[in-house]
Amino acid sequence: MYLGLDFGTSSVKGVIIDDNQKLIATASSPLKVSRPHHGWSEQNPAHWWKAANAVVRALRKAKPKAIAAVKGIGMSGQQHGATLLDKNGKVLRPCILWNDARSFEECADILRDCPDAKAITGNVPLAGFTAPKLLWVRKHEPKIFEQVAKVLLPKDYIRFCMTGTYGSDMSDSAGTYWLDVAKRDWSDVVLKATHLRRDQMPELFEGTDVTGRITDKLAKEWGMLLKPVVAGGGGDNAAAAVGIGAVHDGDAVLSLGTSGVMFVANEKFSPNTARGVHAFCHAVPNMWHQMGVILSATDSIEWLARLLKTPAPKLTAALGNKLAGPAEVLLLPYFSGERTPVGDSQIRAAFLGLGHETDAKSMTHAVLDAVAFAFRQSLDALRDGGATVNRLTAVGGGTHSEIWLKIIATVLDVPIDLPAAGDVGGAFGGARLGLIAATGASYKKICTKPKIAKTILPEKKAQAAYEAAYRRYIQIYPAIKDIK
Ligand code: XUL
Repeated sequence: MYLGLDFGTSSVKGVIIDDNQKLIATASSPLKVSRPHHGWSEQNPAHWWKAANAVVRALRKAKPKAIAAVKGIGMSGQQHGATLLDKNGKVLRPCILWNDARSFEECADILRDCPDAKAITGNVPLAGFTAPKLLWVRKHEPKIFEQVAKVLLPKDYIRFCMTGTYGSDMSDSAGTYWLDVAKRDWSDVVLKATHLRRDQMPELFEGTDVTGRITDKLAKEWGMLLKPVVAGGGGDNAAAAVGIGAVHDGDAVLSLGTSGVMFVANEKFSPNTARGVHAFCHAVPNMWHQMGVILSATDSIEWLARLLKTPAPKLTAALGNKLAGPAEVLLLPYFSGERTPVGDSQIRAAFLGLGHETDAKSMTHAVLDAVAFAFRQSLDALRDGGATVNRLTAVGGGTHSEIWLKIIATVLDVPIDLPAAGDVGGAFGGARLGLIAATGASYKKICTKPKIAKTILPEKKAQAAYEAAYRRYIQIYPAIKDIK
């Protein structure tokens, strides 16, 4: 048996799979985000650990024999969070999360002090990443900065709680902005430019490697008689890609969740810093991936749902399933800034073309179109970075809306495959990595693709009108970005 644990922003999810990758049990426990100031987003690492324990307890209650037989654990985690520990392993302050926007000025500091940073990391520094967060702490909380003995990513803090060791995997570490992503090693140059040292970083592993075993004490507490190994694991997008079998060059995943991600696996490191592409290591050896990241995907429709006091599925259902063309109204969906392609944490959303006739339906349509246009900009940026994308597998809560997928397929001109029901998220990918670490199986053999329930094709008749709307959409950001 193998346990996968996914440390998301809103919950911790756990799955147990057997040697044939059959799903044996699932459980989850919610998490809250604290936003003490405008643009801040934090979590208390103790809450992740508490939630992880609740998940294991629930799994044990449902399947005690399966838990007793766990041989390998793999974790998937929200990326980029800065968990700061002192020399005794004590947490120094709440973790600053991936969607925290406070450190935008520090991104410019990095480029000023380390002119080679983009070339070394293959990425543009963004407020979401870990390194600028540490510069912010140095500037605003110097007493805490002085005590930092280790900087850990969220799932790696849990590894520390489980095994007592400091380790991380390549895919998650690539999102810190301290990794030389092509070499799969920490960059002393970027570390130095941000006033940090290699010894403050965890040891690096591949996602499929064994990083340690859970402690005797924990094995007893969790009822895991075999003292399972803990795999390197992965950042949530890379781990979800492992779960869906996107581990070969060109395999592409569209994740329509709170944030939206266009993910492509690459056999070569393929950066495109000019267009805001994230170029990270994959969670399997000798592979990389590119991502376009949209900060508000289902979060955009949730915003409208809150405003109109109508649940999002009801709003989207009102559009029906026939796609005639784009909405009259345009939206730039930057409710919490944007990563790809603009890398601007300060910009906010804008509607264009509201009229007296604009109603809930046209606003909903505009939101769905906007997210599709944002994905199109990501796809164009990934292709510009050398990716070939012929079809996409879609995952995430937003995929329940068929009209949304139809709009996205039409705007991208790419067919979208929908996997049959089943757990194909980060927790499942984590469990696969746990299995590989425990058994030494080849990742290519284990990371098979799920059965496809349905393929959504582009709506050819609507394409010309959508193309024209997209051309208008891409003009909005340059036109409004300097209006403060
Ligand atoms: C990826 C990213 C998010 C987080 C949270 O760069 O910031 O996908 O990992 O899920």
